[in-house]
Parts: sequence; structure tokens; C-alpha cells
Amino acid sequence: MNDAARLHLASRMAFIEPFEVMEIQTLAREVEARGMDVIHMEIGEPDFTTPRPVVEAAQRALESKPMFYTSALGFNELREAIARFYHDRYRVEVPASRIIVTAGSSAALLLAFGVLLDHGDEVLLSDPGYPCNRHFVRTLGGVPRLIPVGPESRYQLNAGLVRRDWSAKTRVAMVASPSNPTGTMVTPAEVEALAALVREKGGILLADEIYQGLTYGLDARTALEAGEDVFVINSFSKYFQMTGWRLGWLVAPPRYVREIEKLAQNLFISPSTVAQHAALACFEPKTIEILEKRRAELDERRRFLIPALESLGFKVPVVPQGAFYIYADCSALSNDSFAFAREILTKAGVAVTPGKDFGHHHPERHIRIAYTQTVARLEEAVARIRQLVRKS
Ligand SMILES: Cc1ncc(COP(=O)(O)O)c(C=O)c1O
Repeated sequence: MNDAARLHLASRMAFIEPFEVMEIQTLAREVEARGMDVIHMEIGEPDFTTPRPVVEAAQRALESKPMFYTSALGFNELREAIARFYHDRYRVEVPASRIIVTAGSSAALLLAFGVLLDHGDEVLLSDPGYPCNRHFVRTLGGVPRLIPVGPESRYQLNAGLVRRDWSAKTRVAMVASPSNPTGTMVTPAEVEALAALVREKGGILLADEIYQGLTYGLDARTALEAGEDVFVINSFSKYFQMTGWRLGWLVAPPRYVREIEKLAQNLFISPSTVAQHAALACFEPKTIEILEKRRAELDERRRFLIPALESLGFKVPVVPQGAFYIYADCSALSNDSFAFAREILTKAGVAVTPGKDFGHHHPERHIRIAYTQTVARLEEAVARIRQLVRKS
């Protein structure tokens, strides 16, 4: 029997596509191994290391605390610290009892979809959008409904689009603000209208706020303002720069918390204990001071990169106000962003992610560029791409 015949794959696997950005990263490593310098702008991860006070808190905890499992909901001190953060920074009252600490927002997404979706239930998602969402939904037997969005709605779902595509099977509408891959945001009025519509339909609004805090020229708000029935996902990965620690959280309506707790007990037992101790230091003024300086630096990079890309022939129809991504239209330079991303990588040593990762709505026209490099490296990347496009 050959290997293929021995493979017993669940039918859902036919819907699970590779995470293209990881494939690009693998190719980038191969290019580096051949001796070429690669400027990494593909991965959705800040280039800053975890702030010192957070690392020190972890070290202290490892020396002085037992590293046992915690409650599946996370330990209370951290849940209360997150509740206080919502109060102090976002002026919303969220009781700690509604906050569930998770293994990154990835686990929060799995838990939220896990308690909400029955087989065949539909989830409305923006296209382009974060690729893992549609795969989480598929893994749980749900059906992702991708709604094409463009510059006219700042690449975001709104109440009009959700009303148009809501069906008898729709259970959840999801938004991400700031969004990956476009960096655009949903305004508080739009969130309000979405929450009201979804309420009228008897469904659930799920807001991914994993890039909250990373906004430029405006302060982020939270969808929690729109009512107690909204599910909100967040993370220590991006603003707090703790990607590898695997810690995030979910804010759920009160009557769902016990159900989520049961599922979390079974799926994960508990989130990482050392990461939870470390995360307590995230809210200290000295950590916030470091993070705010880094946010200003990200803004400086964004302000450099947008006009620089435009000068190369890319279009950036909506100025991104958050996260650390630019979703650039490269159709004036190539009609195949997938081949273009590979060409930029192998010939110019600049790694970016092709639109293909983010859905089916004109992926061939777009690439996502993460400004997770210093301004000097961004200048170098732009110079290398300029040389490449001049030659072709
Ligand atoms: C929009 C969005 N949601 C969720 C995640 C998952 O992040 P994590 O599990 O590290 O919190 C990511 C990661 O890039 C993301 O971009």
C-alpha cells in the first residue's frame, strides 16, 4: 500500500488551505540559506521583543511561584487586571467574571465558535480577512460566508452588507478592528449599527480586537461599548508584543461564560501559568510607556512606507489607521500577486505576503506588507523593489 492510500483524512481537510504566509516564510529561509539577505515583511508579528518588565515578572514568578494549572478561565488577578485596563483606558465597565484568559486569541476564537456553531451554521466574514477564521469555522463544521469588501467600505463589513447576506442559517457576523490584512477600522457608529442588526436577527456579533492599542492618529474604542451581548476577542500578542507566550482573552456575554469554561477545561485545561504571571506586568505604567514609544515608532514607519509604496506604483486606496499592515494594490506592477511576491523575494530579498492568504476577492491584485522593520530597513526594501520594477 502506498502512503496516500494509508492516509485517513477527515473530509473537512479538503477545506483547510495552507497558511500562505508560513509558506512564504519557509521560502524566505531557503533564500537566506543560499546567502541572500532577506528583509522580512511577511509575518504578522512585531519586531520588538517582549518589554523588559514583563520578562522580569516571568522570571520572578518562575523562581517564587508554583507552575501548576490555573482555573480554565485564567487566574482571577489577571482577569481583574484586564477588567481594570478596560475601565482605565477604554472607559468601559467589564466585570472580570466575563473575561476568559486563553492560549492566544486563537484559542479564544476556537472557544467562541465552539460554543456558538452547530453543523451547517454560517458565519459572515469579510473578504479579505484573517485566513484562520474561515478555517476555525470549517473545523467546527460551520460554513464561512465570505463577503467581498473593498475600499468603498474601507474593507470592512457594515450593517448594510450583513443585512443583505444574512440567511436563515447565519449565526454569527464577525468584524476585526483594526483589521488584518488592511489595517482599517470599524467606527463606533458602525459597530453600534452592526450590533443592533445582529440582535434583531437573533444572531451574535463577534469582534476581533487583537490589534487594539495599535492605532495611529486616533484612540481605539471597543465593541464592548455596543452591549453586553457582543463577543470580543483580544490578545497579548500584538500591542503587548508577546506572540510566542501564547496568551489572549475572550470577553463573553455572562450567560455563555460557564459553557465556555466547560469547553476550555476539556480543550486546554488552562492557559500558560508563567505567561499569565508575566502578563500582569503588561498594565504597569513603565510597560505602557515602552509600548507607547513603540507605537509611535510604528506610526513613523507607516508614514514613511505609504508614500514610498505609492512612488513605486502600488496603490493604497484606504490609509490604514491601525495594526502594522498595508494591503497594497499591485495591479499596476503585476497581474499575479502570488508570482510577484515570489519574485520580490527571490530577486530582491524582500518577503511580503500575497493576497491569496486573505480570501478570494481579487487576491491576485494585492500584497500585504508588514512594517515590522526599522525605517532604515524599510528604505532598503523600497530601494530593492524600485530596482526590480525598473528592470522589468
Ligand atoms: C486578526 C487576527 N486574529 C487573531 C490572530 C491570532 O493571534 P494570537 O493567537 O497570537 O493571539 C491573529 C494573528 O496574527 C490575527 O492577525
